[in-house]
Amino acid sequence: MYKILFTLLFQRMDPEQAHHLAFRWIRRVARVPGLRTFVAAALAPRHKELRTEALGLRLHSPFGLAAGFDKNAVGIDGLAMLGFDHVEIGTVTGEPQPGNPKKRLFRLVADRALINRMGFNNEGSLAVAARLASRTPVFRTVVGVNIGKTKAVPEDEAVADYVKSAERLAPYADYLVVNVSSPNTPGLRDLQAVDHLRPLLAAVREAADRSAPARRVPLLVKIAPDLADEDVDAVADLAVELGLDGIIATNTTIAREGLGLTSPPALVQETGGLSGAPLKARSLDVLRRLYARVGDRITLVGVGGVENAEDAWQRILAGATLVQGYSAFVYEGPFWGRAMHKGLAARLRTSPYATLADAVGADVRTTA
Ligand SMILES: Cc1cc2nc3c(=O)[nH]c(=O)nc-3n(C[C@H](O)[C@H](O)[C@H](O)COP(=O)(O)O)c2cc1C
Repeated sequence: MYKILFTLLFQRMDPEQAHHLAFRWIRRVARVPGLRTFVAAALAPRHKELRTEALGLRLHSPFGLAAGFDKNAVGIDGLAMLGFDHVEIGTVTGEPQPGNPKKRLFRLVADRALINRMGFNNEGSLAVAARLASRTPVFRTVVGVNIGKTKAVPEDEAVADYVKSAERLAPYADYLVVNVSSPNTPGLRDLQAVDHLRPLLAAVREAADRSAPARRVPLLVKIAPDLADEDVDAVADLAVELGLDGIIATNTTIAREGLGLTSPPALVQETGGLSGAPLKARSLDVLRRLYARVGDRITLVGVGGVENAEDAWQRILAGATLVQGYSAFVYEGPFWGRAMHKGLAARLRTSPYATLADAVGADVRTTA
């Protein structure tokens, strides 16, 4: 059904317009009380065996929606209604900004991939904080808040920009993510270097503690798949040293490996971050490497090319306690979350592990 809709409607539209249209529909359905209850009842995760504890939070499932889909926190309940058990909003920057000029999102349908150079288009930390403050949640879902640097802010003032966002947003975040890995803000990924990352994460930690003193908001960092292996290790060591709660691996890639021969070369060469199926292998490698380094000391979140329950299962075996996706949602549609939960529960049942927690990192532990 969705495949037909995708082919006949969305695929013929500009990808960004299609995103806005689909997201508007989701939000509309979520505003109708009887309808949203019906949809949520059909799509919400209800497999007891998928219940997960992570970052001090209780979740119905390890599977959620990655950052970038709901940049301004306008549709959390609609996304929760579709079965995403956690929704990571953002990236939100200190100040509002329009992002890069359009056209900035491209579909590589044959490769089940996307390229984007959105450039953190968002309403800014003040507006998003106000929205979250006035929100009355309809569905219980974990809300992660992903923060990044305002483009116009010079690199030597980056910490202050992140701190501003953290202070405003931490009170409404179930967890907070420092995004230093988008390829679409010049210089952003340089912040992944440990010398830059250490003061940044320490300052954001302090800001979160200041503005949400009643509880310790879990703090995570999101990294790029393009880091060299030694740099992945360095970030892992730093995370342990600083007592960080988690690492999200990975953001989109600037590499163009793993693309089939099917997408038009002009599309493949568009500047931006590549996501979806071609990212799968590298994201999994980075995750595995992180788990080998940090083990159970830090919560790992696996994202990048997760298309189906088997992919999610492989992330769990490689060390992920939580798993996220974005691109496959575009191609699979509104029943994707349900299929993921159903498939994951089935995968666990046929595995040698009694619980999901037992499966986390099992592949890495046996090969270590
Ligand atoms: C259109 C688009 C926008 C994105 N925007 C953000 C963002 O604002 N912040 C962020 O941390 N990641 C962003 N991402 C990256 C995703 O959160 C995710 O890390 C990446 O797409 C890999 O997952 P996937 O292969 O399941 O899409 C974006 C991805 C896409 C496709």
